[in-house]
Amino acid sequence: MIVVLGATGAIGGAVARRLAQQGVPFRAVVRRAGVDVPGAEVVRADLDDPASLPAALAGAEQLFLNAGGAVPADGEQPMVAQQVAAVDAAVAAGVRHIVKISVQGATPGRPLAVGAHAGIEAHLAASGLEDTVLRPSGFFQNLLTGVSAFTDEGDLLDPYDGGAVGYLDADDIGAVAAAALTGAAPRGGVHTLTGPRLLTHDDLAGALAPVLGRRVGVVPLPPDEVVAFLVDRGLSATFAQDVAELSRGAAAGELAELTDAVERLTGRPPRDVTDFVAEHADDLRRVVPQPV
Ligand SMILES: NC(=O)c1ccc[n+]([C@@H]2O[C@H](COP(=O)([O-])OP(=O)(O)OC[C@H]3O[C@@H](n4cnc5c(N)ncnc54)[C@H](OP(=O)(O)O)[C@@H]3O)[C@@H](O)[C@H]2O)c1
Repeated sequence: MIVVLGATGAIGGAVARRLAQQGVPFRAVVRRAGVDVPGAEVVRADLDDPASLPAALAGAEQLFLNAGGAVPADGEQPMVAQQVAAVDAAVAAGVRHIVKISVQGATPGRPLAVGAHAGIEAHLAASGLEDTVLRPSGFFQNLLTGVSAFTDEGDLLDPYDGGAVGYLDADDIGAVAAAALTGAAPRGGVHTLTGPRLLTHDDLAGALAPVLGRRVGVVPLPPDEVVAFLVDRGLSATFAQDVAELSRGAAAGELAELTDAVERLTGRPPRDVTDFVAEHADDLRRVVPQPV
């Protein structure tokens, strides 16, 4: 049995859709009552309540481990305790293989998710379970969900000072995870996942313009100004400083990396940002502020 955590999320949803399409039996763990995941046996459990996990993992051979997309505004990161609890419960339940979603450049001691994922990866490596670690670059989905990605006038804010990122579609991350879970791709390894090309904020604005039907400007938000900007928008100073540190890294080219892992592990190339904006055109027109 494959257990999928976060099946209502962007990546977990893509995993669940693929398993269902392929007729692979799986169990989806959800937090709320009344949530349906097509093709799955649905069980309720919450990573904040470790006592709920043994029943969710009973009889499982594999676990897809992902949860918690957003870092709370106060900067406190619950992800480590949540995912460590999931790994421990998986060991106790006799799970053999975990596919974990991490982040590009996961490194102990770095801020926010970059350091948090490194800690979880280390715990997973020490667990004795077989593990496949997927370290994605930034998601196209951040255009829909990213905190403060746009100005109130609908221009794109660039805190990376022109630094490029190998953004990709969360759906492709789900495709790689599903391949590792079904045996279509080999188990094991640490894979950095990226899209097909490096993109600056100018490139993102260029991709958005035809879909939004207008020119999309790019407004520099130098890393040194990120703190004041985010605090002004109600986020904590600690969180804002952490974002600024990661932005400085991106501005210095830390995220300007491309890999062939999506194509190597799924047999098809990753989707381009033009595919993403076309598919999500209605959502983008609804979410992105429009100039008055
Ligand atoms: N955004 C990026 O650019 C980026 C880049 C690299 C890596 N990442 C990593 O990607 C991950 C986020 O993936 P995503 O975008 O697929 O997330 P997402 O869409 O926000 O989905 C999160 C899923 O986790 C579930 N969940 C949250 N808290 C839970 C809990 N306490 N117990 C059980 N389930 C819980 C959610 O359930 P509900 O539906 O009930 O909320 C949802 O199904 C994070 O670890 C992040 O660090 C993000």
